[in-house]
Amino acid sequence: MPRGDEKYDLIQSVPLFSECTGDELEAIASSADLIDVPEGMELVTQGKSTNELVAIAVGEVEVTKDGQPVARLGAGDFFGEIALITGAPRTATVSATEPSTLLVLTDREFWRLAKENPALPSAVLKVFAERLHPDTF
Ligand code: CMP
Repeated sequence: MPRGDEKYDLIQSVPLFSECTGDELEAIASSADLIDVPEGMELVTQGKSTNELVAIAVGEVEVTKDGQPVARLGAGDFFGEIALITGAPRTATVSATEPSTLLVLTDREFWRLAKENPALPSAVLKVFAERLHPDTF
């Protein structure tokens, strides 16, 4: 598990946070959990009511809906934005396809950071819309 400066560097490597200032990156580093997960671990379960936002610092995940694969996401991508924004149950199941390092933000931490850095919710809303209505984009 990376510590200190490594955590800061991993956060900075995620495009979602690329517009953040040094102070904002420090705030993210202190409020987000960096976790290592093994290959095969189910991270988010379709239909469950959880609402963290998860960014992938290292690794890859698969997104399945009703048991069918719909996407693979890798380093720099994020998931969990739909439940974060709507408060509805998870729309898909997300599992690690390789050992991965993830940055986990609770909804409360996300909205607190969003107040100080409006680029953050804008970037999340863009991806939210693209995933809900891929034909429009
Ligand atoms: P959420 O519904 O909170 O939890 C499951 C997540 O899977 C969802 O948010 C999105 O982040 C992600 N997801 C759902 N559908 C797709 C898709 N078609 N492509 C990529 N990611 C998706």
